[in-house]
Amino acid sequence: MREPICDLPAPCHIAIIMDGNGRWAKKRNLPRTAGHAAGGEAFRRIAHHCRKLGVKYLTVYAFSTENWKRSEDEVAGIMRLLGNYLKEALSDMEKNRVRFRFFGDLSRLSPQLQKLCREAEEKSLDYDVQVNFCLNYGGRDEIVKATRKIAADVQAGRLQAEQITEQLFSDYLYSKDVPDPELIIRPSGEMRTSNFLLWQSAYSEYVFMDVLWPDFSEEHLEQAIAEYHKRNRRFGGA
Ligand code: FPP
Repeated sequence: MREPICDLPAPCHIAIIMDGNGRWAKKRNLPRTAGHAAGGEAFRRIAHHCRKLGVKYLTVYAFSTENWKRSEDEVAGIMRLLGNYLKEALSDMEKNRVRFRFFGDLSRLSPQLQKLCREAEEKSLDYDVQVNFCLNYGGRDEIVKATRKIAADVQAGRLQAEQITEQLFSDYLYSKDVPDPELIIRPSGEMRTSNFLLWQSAYSEYVFMDVLWPDFSEEHLEQAIAEYHKRNRRFGGA
């Protein structure tokens, strides 16, 4: 067995932008959907390892509000993978004991996929290791939707403008009750946030890695955690 790369405890919440599936497929002359299938396998591997390391929350960017611009074939392929994964997760629920949450506007997904998401959320409420799937998710969209709900509550007299604080705002986001991620990992060499967890990432440490998501291994995860521990988190203090 190999030595662990980092002996320090894992962060409580890790978020990942699962990027590079398309390039991984292209390098192998495979259709992009094959890259997403390999990305789904990487997700299983990494989710398993996160649990082993004691991570309580894992948030993954599975489909963004911008990803609808891709070909119909590619979108259908990603949705099929997610559907199959959720069916499997539902049948293994008692064995795996993972809580599922979905961040994003699910109303644009197929009724079947929406139903699977709802069932997965409802049936896993009592479990405490949690995976948050960002599906039809955009950070700006999340903030706009929260603002609309707050405005509606103010208009209806349920809330006073003076009561709006950072904490209250957080409670109107998809991530209500989930602590902010300490570490956000983006593989594939790209160095941008791509509209991911804009509010929640205010003080997150970003680790960018030059590996395509389907090739992301347990060792890469541990390297990212080791890099996180090297950072000196000051939260704006001196
Ligand atoms: C980004 O890579 C990846 C996505 C838009 C889709 C991610 C979806 C999965 C990993 C499958 C989900 C299924 C499960 C079970 C979690 P990209 O296509 O933008 O890659 P590129 O930048 O190389 O083109």
